[in-house]
Amino acid sequence: MRVLHTRDDLRFLDELKRKRPLVLVPTMGALHEGHLSLVREAERYGAVVATIFVNPTQFGPGEDYDAYPRDLESDLERLRPLNVEAVFAPPVSLMYPEGSGVSIQPGSRGLGLCGGDRPGHFAGVLTVVAKLFGLTRPEIAVFGRKDAQQCLVIDQMVRDLEFPVRLIDAPTIREGDGLAMSSRNRYLDAEERSRALCLSQALREAERLVAGGERSAGKVRQRMWDHLSPADEIRYAEIRSVPDLQEPERMEGRILLAVSAQVGPARLIDNLVLEISDDAVREGSLLGDGER
Ligand code: PAF
Repeated sequence: MRVLHTRDDLRFLDELKRKRPLVLVPTMGALHEGHLSLVREAERYGAVVATIFVNPTQFGPGEDYDAYPRDLESDLERLRPLNVEAVFAPPVSLMYPEGSGVSIQPGSRGLGLCGGDRPGHFAGVLTVVAKLFGLTRPEIAVFGRKDAQQCLVIDQMVRDLEFPVRLIDAPTIREGDGLAMSSRNRYLDAEERSRALCLSQALREAERLVAGGERSAGKVRQRMWDHLSPADEIRYAEIRSVPDLQEPERMEGRILLAVSAQVGPARLIDNLVLEISDDAVREGSLLGDGER
């Protein structure tokens, strides 16, 4: 596994591309089992290159940019046993050199949810992802479905701006009790960790309601909201269509259940994609053609 820091180091990727498609797994480090599952998904498609960069432009004022865990050595230790050909960990000066000023604004999919709650967040995400794509030129890139809106906003960028890259959304990895894995879970103490379970429970409760025949988006949304009461602050509990992230009145077709809440020091998100037909409700994917 090669560790690359500079633009010159990236020449190594040309060697990799001669043999197999290059598959990018962008991360901000603080790697956990969820990230490792993205790498395992990526391995199926070609030579895996993971990136580790805590991107300043996607954090708003007062958010946790300074506190965000950074430990490159322990991240590399976690990646070494996997089939990762290279890790690209650039400095801020390479990603945002003096004089750079262009940023990519999200389209309609960036409205509401985290886009509403964290102004500027998706412009930061798109700008850094576009820069990573430009520097590494992957054929395929893998993102976690847990960041559902992020996946769909990046998908819109790739389509609208004709980036020659195929996107894959990999399933959310959960702890045994249902908590979605997140680098921010490490901010939680034991009591907060137990209250944080309300996010995944709200989603499962909504899924049960839909499986029982409820099709009113308003009623399902209310049920999620009620189950989030252990959180310190509910940021949102929303029902959206996939992939366009419009607000449907009825629970039909491919639907995203999305929740976000503040628990102690951590702003957490979770979500679930459902494929809903008249006679069946099952879990779906964001970017694929259906069930996964
Ligand atoms: O999902 C993340 O870790 C980040 O938003 C990403 C895609 C690596 C961009 O900084």
